[in-house]
Amino acid sequence: MLTAAKTLYHRAFPKLVRPVLSTLKTLRDTSFKAVAVERLPTNTTTRGHAVHRWFNFIAGFSPELVNACVEMTGRVPHREMRLLDPFSGCGTAPVAARLMGISATAYDPHPFFAVISEAKANSAYYWSDLPGIQAAIERGIGDQPTEHSPLSDSAIAFLSKLVEPKALSALNSARVELENDGLSKNPLAILILSRILDHCCSAATDGIYKAPTSSKKPLSPEAALDRVMSILLSDQVDATNTGTDIQIYARSSESMAELADSSIDIVVTSPPYLNNFDFAEMTRMYLYFWQMASSWSDISNKVRSRLIVNTTTALKGHKPLQQHYRDSLPISVRQAADEAVMTLIARRKEKAGKKEYDFLVYPYLSQMKKVLAETYRTLKTGAPFHMMVSDAALYGVHIPAPQWLAEIMIEIGFQNVQCEMIRPRGHRWILDKRAGSDEGLGEYYIFGVA
Ligand SMILES: C[S@@+](CC[C@H](N)C(=O)[O-])C[C@H]1O[C@@H](n2cnc3c(N)ncnc32)[C@H](O)[C@@H]1O
Repeated sequence: MLTAAKTLYHRAFPKLVRPVLSTLKTLRDTSFKAVAVERLPTNTTTRGHAVHRWFNFIAGFSPELVNACVEMTGRVPHREMRLLDPFSGCGTAPVAARLMGISATAYDPHPFFAVISEAKANSAYYWSDLPGIQAAIERGIGDQPTEHSPLSDSAIAFLSKLVEPKALSALNSARVELENDGLSKNPLAILILSRILDHCCSAATDGIYKAPTSSKKPLSPEAALDRVMSILLSDQVDATNTGTDIQIYARSSESMAELADSSIDIVVTSPPYLNNFDFAEMTRMYLYFWQMASSWSDISNKVRSRLIVNTTTALKGHKPLQQHYRDSLPISVRQAADEAVMTLIARRKEKAGKKEYDFLVYPYLSQMKKVLAETYRTLKTGAPFHMMVSDAALYGVHIPAPQWLAEIMIEIGFQNVQCEMIRPRGHRWILDKRAGSDEGLGEYYIFGVA
């Protein structure tokens, strides 16, 4: 099956990205021990890096990528140099920036990810709270945990599938003790107790999504606290390293009003992919535990509605705006997107699940255009932009999001835009979902200069 989007979309990007990739390859050796280029957009090296390893997830990229991109500027890192990541996630880019000695700004409207980024990227600021955090958690898990729980019914129902009642009750008491000590909003406390929650969870992890049906051996809350504290303390030197200015904003990067025009020296980023990956759903355990949301609809209203539209669970309010989103796109992208959307509408009618993938395409591209335009505004003239993003297959329709985004970047004014696959992914999808296309799905590297 040859998909419509593929036939309409003809632009061949210059293959100049090869030299960029080989520069990355050379530079990575000077920053960290060698890793294959294919691992740069993945989180598979993270567990070997101080601070980064405190909290990480499957959608993260490697610290090596950030280091290599900074080294590629050829400049000696210093405090006045500023990196921007408009999609912070677990904070790999701002943490790497700080450890290299450059300042950073990052955005993420997901309340849990913003807190995790803040805890890691500004760990020096919270370090002196560590003894108090440890004492409050010890008290909570050591006391006879109370049966009383302030969590909502749906939160208890969900969390009880993941953590056995005694441990859940102990962790809940630890949260209440943090609250009593005025530490329940402290980012480092949230990171630490969230990691303990992970270790006490009897469900296996797929990324950071806890699937109640899969199982692993949980740790006791006491053993989990020991493990988490021992990792943090062994990273003390990097955790307390200061001298840079790191700003994490829990807001959408569609508007980055905090940043002046031409104030950013480099962007290293990776946005949500247009692949129906639900960042709110995958963090449900933490959102419920920290009372950032208390039900499915609460998650939609407080979390999903703030994120770039990339999943059919986030369509509330976006369906009536399709025309508006479509009109904001460059003509070449609009034509290709139209054809993909029409094919998706037809596929939806044939499929039992009736997933509304056809409503995702225009809002995703339009919101990404806003972020890219804001990013361009903030970059200094000639400053480099590096982005990792994947294409997707929805109901068998190929969505060449990286090429569309690169096209949008050209319209915005980026120069020397290059876009090339850096890593194949999702092989199991190729046969049925990419039949007729010449390449499998992949993670793409997009480069541009402001
Ligand atoms: C691919 S992940 C980034 C991972 C990150 N590079 C790391 O290493 O941890 C994309 C992130 O974009 C965030 N995001 C979604 N919509 C956003 C928006 N409008 N503004 C900023 N961030 C957003 C998601 O919450 C998610 O954490």
